[in-house]
Amino acid sequence: MIKPLILGNKTFPTHLVQGPLAGISCAPFRRLIWRYSQPAYTCTEMLSSKTLIHKPLAAQQRFIKKDPAEGPLCFQLSANNPEELAEATRRVTDYGADLIDLNCGCPVKKIRSKGAGSSLLTKPTELYRLILAMKQNTHCPVSIKIRVEGGSRDTFNAEVARVIQEAGADFVVVHGRHWTEHYETPCHHDEIQFFVEQLKIPVIGNGDISCLASFNKMLATGCAGVMIGRAGVGQPWLINKLMTEMQGEVFSPPSWEEINEVFLEHVQELIELLGNEKFAVLQARTFAKYYARGLPARLDFSAAVNQVEDMVTLRKVCRDYWLS
Ligand SMILES: Cc1cc2nc3c(=O)[nH]c(=O)nc-3n(C[C@H](O)[C@H](O)[C@H](O)COP(=O)(O)O)c2cc1C
Repeated sequence: MIKPLILGNKTFPTHLVQGPLAGISCAPFRRLIWRYSQPAYTCTEMLSSKTLIHKPLAAQQRFIKKDPAEGPLCFQLSANNPEELAEATRRVTDYGADLIDLNCGCPVKKIRSKGAGSSLLTKPTELYRLILAMKQNTHCPVSIKIRVEGGSRDTFNAEVARVIQEAGADFVVVHGRHWTEHYETPCHHDEIQFFVEQLKIPVIGNGDISCLASFNKMLATGCAGVMIGRAGVGQPWLINKLMTEMQGEVFSPPSWEEINEVFLEHVQELIELLGNEKFAVLQARTFAKYYARGLPARLDFSAAVNQVEDMVTLRKVCRDYWLS
């Protein structure tokens, strides 16, 4: 059943969310999600507070542009300093954020070595100050997106849960993997359930949701909502499909012709956003494989796209693999 999601001072009609994906979840991607699905909200790519404050606005359009066709948007910030995060929070509130999230899950060395991303989970005092800095500088609901710690759950995860709640976060997104597990280890649903049981604020469960069975498995943790990650890439209709199937109805999948058109539209809009065809086509290499899910020659298609640097050639490759 589709349920409303109450997050801080906002109520959303559905409990499915499209999550943040660096290199992918800018406006062209999100616009497609809104055309085909009705999530509670979608998320920007992670944006460093320092970059937001110090780089010229023109250089940040990729991160801050919201298309008028989009619904509610969560700006995701990374930070290691409360003063910078406070300023970044004020700015994204002015840019029209509907929710603001602090990234506490990023496993990338460059981010962790700066004391941001998942490294914050081992620094409860800093984490507390960062959440407070967000809460004191916006009227938007504030969340943090975390990963889990297996093994020492009663000490580590319990401490993280206590800090999140005491600092006043409105809700938390829990990705059920440890930061060292990156993305391939199966999601630990029991660790997500642990947070649900510890916290009074809503928990949004995240990890490995791609079909009705995996969606239901996540809901069985008791979480208030679910966040789709990779499975939303290349199939912006996924949330609509899940909502249709949840109601016992059959979802008609799009044809290869439509998938081809959506992929090319995604890349074309990225060119317009970035103002650089070659850069946008190179970026498309990272998400082409998701659109090609289910294509028998998926690996060959991805290899061919990896050689492409312009839109004319990209259209030809798509024609060869998808329409012939
Ligand atoms: C390419 C890629 C980029 C990601 N970028 C972000 C990001 O910017 N911020 C974030 O919190 N999580 C990011 N994630 C993690 C996802 O939001 C999500 O937590 C993770 O993929 C697990 O969900 P899934 O198993 O449904 O994909 C990224 C994941 C991938 C694969």
